[in-house]
Amino acid sequence: MYFSTFYIDLRELLINVFKVMQYIKCGAEKFEFEIKPLGGLCKRCQKEIPVVSLTTQNLKLCKSCFNAIQEKRVYETVKKFRMFNKEDRIGIFLSGGKDSASLATLLKRLFPDYSFQGIYLNLGIGYYSEYAEKTVRELCEKIELPLFVYNLPKEEGFSIDEFVFTNFRDKICSVCGVIKRYLFSKMAKALGLTVIATGHHLDDLLSTYLTLFFNGDFLSLKRLSPVNLPLYPGQAKKVKPLCQIPERELFYYAILNELPLEGCACPHGEITPAKKIKFLIEELSKENRTFKYQLMSVFLNKFLPLLKEEIKEETQFKPCLRCGEPTASANELCNHCRRIELLERVKDRRLELTFEEWLKYSQGESKESWVIFDVREKEDYLKGALPEAKWISKDLLENERELIKTFKPFRDKNLLFYCYTGRLSYFFTLKLRKLGFKAYNLKHPEEIFNKVDTLQKNV
Ligand code: FES
Ligand code: ZN
Repeated sequence: MYFSTFYIDLRELLINVFKVMQYIKCGAEKFEFEIKPLGGLCKRCQKEIPVVSLTTQNLKLCKSCFNAIQEKRVYETVKKFRMFNKEDRIGIFLSGGKDSASLATLLKRLFPDYSFQGIYLNLGIGYYSEYAEKTVRELCEKIELPLFVYNLPKEEGFSIDEFVFTNFRDKICSVCGVIKRYLFSKMAKALGLTVIATGHHLDDLLSTYLTLFFNGDFLSLKRLSPVNLPLYPGQAKKVKPLCQIPERELFYYAILNELPLEGCACPHGEITPAKKIKFLIEELSKENRTFKYQLMSVFLNKFLPLLKEEIKEETQFKPCLRCGEPTASANELCNHCRRIELLERVKDRRLELTFEEWLKYSQGESKESWVIFDVREKEDYLKGALPEAKWISKDLLENERELIKTFKPFRDKNLLFYCYTGRLSYFFTLKLRKLGFKAYNLKHPEEIFNKVDTLQKNV
């Protein structure tokens, strides 16, 4: 039996009726799902109340049938592409997002007696990483998946955020990808994993296929398939069991099954070329609901076999001079180590100041050199704020043009930010750093608010 039977009872349905679930993705894309009865009976079981509709067919389903369809798709994909078997040790990389949460849940339900290992990589992206780690821990507890957490700042001495100090400042996602891939294969080796399962879904694969195609990168295209065999000894096989599921349906799956999901998007979310292509595919699918499957079938059944025949793989791997890991890079260092070297050349990598540091700083001689901004609600600012603080609306984060316009007059100054928890101000700091401003976040704002009165008297 490869699908579970979960029935949505009336009480659960009533609780969820008209509840709009929202999910904000990296890159500011928003997904919404309103759980409500869709009228009539489920098209599959003809018994239950339908609450969700498939995106690729006009099929209204109850929760149980929707789950069964997704589980069947994953089961068939795993079997068709011979992704893993009972003897394998399978790592599942978790991010706190809907895709990896659904992947882990689906695999645990479908293959209860297989050996799975959850892995979370804390990238040190301020509040986002902490929140995601908490979510991943909750998920693993819920689905009883053993979890291994690797903390990048603690283990390697740097965080992804620090790349805002380098010329990669507006390409953080791509640096992040290089670092993640490197550490994932290192962890897979250390944990003795033979297979790595990732949450790449139908939309991910299609947008990557088209991006590579438009770039004429046929070698990478050839390597991109639902299963990637190891390229050198000791490397784990990489599999994508969700490659037949549209992204939006994974979101529905995660919400219907009440999986813990991170509530905020990565502050580095960039609109990459692949994301733009994803929007385009989405547009084309509005006219033809099966478009995504047609495209996938052309790639898998026609184009990839052709590429495999035509393109001869002659990649030579040699050990990286710095870390010793096999690399195909033309340089002596692997891509990961080249980026780390770049980071090491930057001396002052500070994004946050403590209250004491700020006090010392603000009472120093160079008052002209800094400006402090309050990004809380205006009424709270009016009730009491740090001396000399200017109020700005948090909405500026959503509008890059306005953001640049607002801060242009302060181009040469050091910009300091604070809010209630330090989270919003951190987002401002990161965003402005990426735009070339010198910004800092005030850490532990609660300490500041306790002292606002005293400060106002003193200044
Ligand atoms: Fe890597 Fe956002 S998670 S940059
Ligand atoms: Zn290296």
